[in-house]
Amino acid sequence: MADNSDKRVDDVTGTETTGHVWDGIEELNTPLPRWWLWTFYATCVWGVIYVILFPAWPLVTGATEGVLGFSTRGQVAADIAAVDEARRDQMGTLASMELADLPDDPELQAFAQRAGASVFANNCSQCHGAGAAGVQAAGYPNLLDDDWLWGGTLEEIAHTVRHGIRNEADPEARWSEMPAFGDILVEEEIDALINHVRALGGLSHDAALAAAGDELFQDNCSSCHGIEGMGMTDLGAPNLTDAIWLYGGSEEEIEHTIRYSRFGVMPPWGERLREADVRAVSAYVHSLGGGVEAAPTN
Ligand code: HEC
Ligand code: HEC
Repeated sequence: MADNSDKRVDDVTGTETTGHVWDGIEELNTPLPRWWLWTFYATCVWGVIYVILFPAWPLVTGATEGVLGFSTRGQVAADIAAVDEARRDQMGTLASMELADLPDDPELQAFAQRAGASVFANNCSQCHGAGAAGVQAAGYPNLLDDDWLWGGTLEEIAHTVRHGIRNEADPEARWSEMPAFGDILVEEEIDALINHVRALGGLSHDAALAAAGDELFQDNCSSCHGIEGMGMTDLGAPNLTDAIWLYGGSEEEIEHTIRYSRFGVMPPWGERLREADVRAVSAYVHSLGGGVEAAPTN
């Protein structure tokens, strides 16, 4: 049983006892070390100051705000503002310069490509893929190759990105207009054309049917795809003679394209992105491997 009635000073240590005794064993009341106590008081003081200055006590919908008004969200906004500020001059130049002159300023070009890579990751990769290789089954073109529907110079790419494709709100949008030939041609004609297109693309085909398709192709298709099937970037008509397929080169896929047409759609980015971002992402896409040099203007 504890009995604290007889506190006394211990003879051996010189320290006072607490008066607790268990079976003749007494408890010493050794004081806490000074350094420990002061550290403890200091943390209490620090805790109180912290609660006053910074967000601390959780409430139902948030927390006490603290008199400094600090928040991690505010810090991110400040960081973003600082980055914007640091990039302001270059973004300003990029937005107002002749885009075709960008390659003459390698430093600005490198800056634009870096900025464009993050614009691409945020806005374009959902359709064109993180590595820009496209998704054939969905008709999202590969942007890594040098095969262009609408042209691969910096300015042509920027135009496509700014105005979009088959976007009714913007009169300058790219507008692909391949008719659906299912209502125009009969079965045998479509069959002949499938074989002709596969022959153009260097794929296995029925030679007699492909030959029969030649005249049909000249009459119905060459106005957009060209007499030799090389395509026309003014009309967004793909080159049919390379091994690169937007929708696929199997008989079924070609038949679907000819019968129903495809009407690929891309949203316009001119309203959603700042001009400098449109140009930056165009510089990035142009740098991916397939970028075409602009024709000399003089
Ligand atoms: C909703 C899906 C979608 C998104 C998002 C998208 N695209 Fe596209 N993009 C397409 C489709 C579909 C086409 C092909 C349309 C056609 O058949 O003409 C295309 C075509 C293009 C072309 C033309 C390629 C050529 O061969 O001429 C470029 C360049 C391009 N996109 C860049 C971008 C950039 C840059 C972004 C982001 C700012 C972007 N796209 C976002 C769907 C998308
Ligand atoms: C008015 C212009 C126009 C005419 C005429 C036209 N095309 Fe097209 N064609 C296009 C466009 C634009 C595309 C791109 C697909 C899209 O997004 O609509 C295309 C796409 C294709 C494709 C898909 C290629 C790929 O890479 O997947 C095939 C195949 C094709 N056309 C075959 C034909 C054939 C065969 C004819 C004639 C019977 C024809 N086209 C007539 C404009 C035309």
